Amino acid sequence: MRMSQRVQSVGAVALVAATFFALGVVARQSLPFGQAKAVRTVGDFHELFYNAGKTTWGGSRWFGVPIEKCPMDLMSYQEILFDTRPDVLVEAGTFMGGSALYFASIMDWLRKGRVITIDIVNRGRPPHPRITYLQGSSTAPEIIAAVKGLISPGETVMAVLDSDHSYAHVLKELQAYGPLVTEGAYLVVEDTNINGHPVRPDYGPGPSEAVDAFCESDSQFVRDRTREKYLLTFNPGGFLRKIR
Ligand SMILES: C[S@@+](CC[C@H](N)C(=O)[O-])C[C@H]1O[C@@H](n2cnc3c(N)ncnc32)[C@H](O)[C@@H]1O
Repeated sequence: MRMSQRVQSVGAVALVAATFFALGVVARQSLPFGQAKAVRTVGDFHELFYNAGKTTWGGSRWFGVPIEKCPMDLMSYQEILFDTRPDVLVEAGTFMGGSALYFASIMDWLRKGRVITIDIVNRGRPPHPRITYLQGSSTAPEIIAAVKGLISPGETVMAVLDSDHSYAHVLKELQAYGPLVTEGAYLVVEDTNINGHPVRPDYGPGPSEAVDAFCESDSQFVRDRTREKYLLTFNPGGFLRKIR
């Protein structure tokens, strides 16, 4: 193992260990084997699941529409939507519309909420009365203005960032959409698992590093590790909750 790989895998293990501690699932009696093996197992499965690509998350569909999400995270999103019931969910990164349709489906059950989803490309958009599609870059001033114009005063707002995963773009999105998120609601940064956390170690600075930079300068958000309770998440440290 090269030194850089060792450093990254140590970083990934530390990340998962921190998650275990945060969740309190380290209680020895609840583990079938030691904590170190548990941490390794989660990391190994994460890499196996992620790298399988097309046969796992890359081949997932929600009611026939492709959706690029970890199924464990979909369960967390359902719980977040049930717990917080936002009036509006702003999504950066529509892709084929599977995640927007998923959020709208949960909102149908809740009988509340709508989705504004943004992409630079129109790849086909499942129609749904709760979904508004915007075309353009999530960080373009006209798109940010359009999103603001679609939100009424007093509405509660959640955001999910899942578009261009470069450090600079995600940081810009955090700065643009963080202020729109209302107290008690979530700002979820997808794919914080890349750049060696633990997958795609050669990616370079991305969503995880953007979250670090954002949280250093903005004390309104905390990382909610309880949303990582299913152990495998593509968004480690990426479930941010606005506390003030
Ligand atoms: C990972 S996919 C989104 C997956 C989708 N949220 C899902 O779960 O099925 C990323 C999407 O972001 C879009 N994208 C890339 N750069 C963008 C930008 N600057 N603004 C908005 N969308 C962008 C891409 O076209 C792509 O469809």
